Amino acid sequence: MSKEIYLDNNATTKCDEEVLNVMLPYLKENYGNPSSLYSFSKDVKEKIVETRRNVAELLNAEESEIIFTSCASESNVSAIMNAVRNNPNKKHIITTKIEHASILETMKYLEGIGYDITYLSVDDKGRLDINELKKVIKKDTFLIAVMMANNEIGNIYPIQEIGEIAKKHNILFHCDAVQAVGKIKIDIKELNVDTLSLSGHKIYAPKGIGVLYKKDEVPYIPLIFGHQEDNRRGGTENVAYIIGLGKAVELILKDNYKSIEKLEKLRNNMELKIQEKIEDVYLYGDLENRIPNTTNIAFKGIKGEELLFILENYGISVGTGSACNSQNAEPSHVLTAMGIDLEQSSPIRISLGKYNTEEEVDKFVETLSSVVKMLRRRK
Ligand SMILES: Cc1ncc(COP(=O)(O)O)c(C=O)c1O
Repeated sequence: MSKEIYLDNNATTKCDEEVLNVMLPYLKENYGNPSSLYSFSKDVKEKIVETRRNVAELLNAEESEIIFTSCASESNVSAIMNAVRNNPNKKHIITTKIEHASILETMKYLEGIGYDITYLSVDDKGRLDINELKKVIKKDTFLIAVMMANNEIGNIYPIQEIGEIAKKHNILFHCDAVQAVGKIKIDIKELNVDTLSLSGHKIYAPKGIGVLYKKDEVPYIPLIFGHQEDNRRGGTENVAYIIGLGKAVELILKDNYKSIEKLEKLRNNMELKIQEKIEDVYLYGDLENRIPNTTNIAFKGIKGEELLFILENYGISVGTGSACNSQNAEPSHVLTAMGIDLEQSSPIRISLGKYNTEEEVDKFVETLSSVVKMLRRRK
């Protein structure tokens, strides 16, 4: 098989070689526990401080507002459960129908124990209606949770506006920013979010490291008790992974979103080439307001899953929806919320990353075009 063409960077990214190189010494010779007092651990402690500084700089936050976690799912659940525990007399939460499973499954659990959850709907382009949000706020609403960018269609949501509404009503606001970090600039000071999550493995660091941003003024009850992370997240720090995350963030800061411009051009050209070569193509999402690497696209009469499996034979990896959805073969909750009929045709998700080249994209478009034609001939 020829070299793999990996086009599923919203599911996960390849760990950057520079990230891996800074991590290795902390798994080999420099294995001290940062909580220990002897000098063997000094460098480890300093490196964790450096990562906290980098992440704070990336978000324009304070270092004291950064909590390292095991993944963004943990960050999401921690933020929601913190809001729940700090508001024992309130029962209403507002979220959307298109959040990640870590948010939606937590909401389902809370619903089961008597909480009142409003799931905001989206239109056929996956957009939220801010007026609907304003209308559904109740006296006992204590939390709003809305993602910054959607993993399947790439839409960017009006977080600043939602934050202002939440602030005006004295409601906590949590934002899952996993798919936005590294792709669009985030200035936490402008956003009015109380908590925000991000994940290492979407930005070329390894799987198993995440961050919970928590505004200093927001009271916090940990999900995992213990003295680490200033008593906010127990468990011996995942030193090498934290340091790897620090490097990944440093690379984003150094690049200053220049490679993102290139990525956007690559994505837009790819979409044009696909539309030139293939008839009856549908592009989903808010095309004017998307993260720059994501394309959600369907071909009349063709199911995304069959396309995915045939492309795999050519060494090409694309997604059909979120990674977890692909496993349990459920129809995508995002596309279903958008009212898209998935009976005859269903989309694939192409999410480009910094390692993708124009040659790869061209090869993919060629292969896609012949596979779509072959499948249509067969029907
Ligand atoms: C929008 C969004 N939120 C949260 C997560 C979960 O991240 P992690 O794998 O670090 O738990 C993902 C990962 O797919 C995601 O796309």
